[in-house]
Amino acid sequence: MKMLRDSFGRSFPYIRLSITDVCNFKCGYCLPNGYQVDKSDNRKFLHLEEIRRLAKVFSKLGVCKIRLTGGEPTVRKDFFDIIKILKNEAGIKKVVITTNGYHLDEKAKMLVDSGLNGINISIDSLNRNTFKSVTGHDRLPEILKGISILQDLNFENIKINAVLLNGINASDKDFESWGKFIKMNKVDFRYIELMQTGDNLDYFKKYHVSSKIFKEYLNKNNWIYQTLGKDAGPSLNYINPEYKGKFGIIAPYSKDFCRSCNRLRITSRGDLRLCLFGNTGISIRHLLQKDDQIEELQDLIMGQMKFKKESHHLELGETGLTKNLSTTGG
Ligand code: 5AD
Ligand code: SF4
Repeated sequence: MKMLRDSFGRSFPYIRLSITDVCNFKCGYCLPNGYQVDKSDNRKFLHLEEIRRLAKVFSKLGVCKIRLTGGEPTVRKDFFDIIKILKNEAGIKKVVITTNGYHLDEKAKMLVDSGLNGINISIDSLNRNTFKSVTGHDRLPEILKGISILQDLNFENIKINAVLLNGINASDKDFESWGKFIKMNKVDFRYIELMQTGDNLDYFKKYHVSSKIFKEYLNKNNWIYQTLGKDAGPSLNYINPEYKGKFGIIAPYSKDFCRSCNRLRITSRGDLRLCLFGNTGISIRHLLQKDDQIEELQDLIMGQMKFKKESHHLELGETGLTKNLSTTGG
């Protein structure tokens, strides 16, 4: 079987596919003024047929997992059709999503019924007011309710991500409240270090803090570092036998972060991105128009792999093409 590999020995069984740039939240680090239509770009988001072809090609290239991201992927009217097509027609074994949890209480059952294999939900704080001030929405209760419905339906793979923000959600008190949560709930909770993007320099300067503070908290409180398995991805995980859930850290500024990179990205308008922050992005959309373009598209994608760089060089303040993460879904 074919497999996508780069020149540094990394393989790519995993695609992150943004299906829309539109988002209904206003997270301070991402879209502080909400989603704005880019008038200079009138290309539509990939449609269902293009997504089907794209997934088929990647499936032939050894991809077994696709994460749907946005923007907020669930705002698409055909969102559930996309999941079904990926699973049933394109043969993708694991389909997972990253969502802000908007109306999760109403959607939970449909998500389970769609055959979805995993969900990452962004929750920056368990404090209702803090949540509201970061995202612009007073929606923490509906999200927590959604999680408990998913659990009642025995949905297994639930992850929660929070962006670590100095002075907002990065104190021992915040860590403890997440500890309480994962003691009782079998979910993986991970802090992501705030990343600088083209748009958020002031916010970044004000709130960025190294995840070292959380690492120190975990070490002090007897959390055990779980060594990375093969294909583990870039999250560092910590376990504790007294807790149902796990803690994790995603530290893009750490020196070895890119070594375990196992994913490629496709933007909502059909550009292949070799790295979240890479300057490298070519459109593959022209080869998603007919079923008989499969071979040509395979060759194009394989040919791109040699351009994947070893590291993103974020630490040098390089942000590549990325204005904010709403086009590439983090
Ligand atoms: N830095 C770190 N994480 C970010 N996200 C969005 N923008 C940033 C940023 N600048 C996160 C969201 C969500 C995921 C899709 O990416 O909070 O968890
Ligand atoms: Fe929307 Fe996610 Fe950006 Fe927040 S981080 S504004 S939820 S795309």
